[in-house]
Amino acid sequence: MISEKLEKAFNDQINKELYSEYLYLSMQAYFERLNLKGFVNWMSVQVQEEHAHAMGMFNYLHERGGKVELEAIEKPEIDWASPLAVFEQVLSHEEFVTSRINALMDVAEEVKDRAALSFLDWYLKEQVEEESNVGGVLATLKLVKDDAKALLMLDRELAARVFNPPVIG
Ligand code: FEO
Repeated sequence: MISEKLEKAFNDQINKELYSEYLYLSMQAYFERLNLKGFVNWMSVQVQEEHAHAMGMFNYLHERGGKVELEAIEKPEIDWASPLAVFEQVLSHEEFVTSRINALMDVAEEVKDRAALSFLDWYLKEQVEEESNVGGVLATLKLVKDDAKALLMLDRELAARVFNPPVIG
């Protein structure tokens, strides 16, 4: 059975993952408005990944005899100044999520729940990958600046991203 303290920390993180899904869905809508279909695709994969992250913890809490308590999801922003501004926010958001996963692991360590620590290892590795992917797009966007042709080339590249349902834990 999972401890009450760790159960609460997991529920908090489920909320953060669902907020991430919501934030990226709002960014997807922004790119729809710009008619940048490759960026739309990239964001829709991100949305599905965040949902999978939340569900991984949702299922794990049940597996451990815990109680899932869903909280209200904060309203995300709806407008950005540019695609570059979007990706700057994605990177800082992912850095924030990484810090929350670390904090969740701190709680697991505190209550000496080694099973939870081993489960959360997957999330830690996933965050390294997420920050690296986002950092790559951000670096290209910095080079693109106001070059519309280069932006459309990047859009074509982002159209190739596919969602592979992750095997969590
Ligand atoms: Fe679920 Fe992008 O972290």
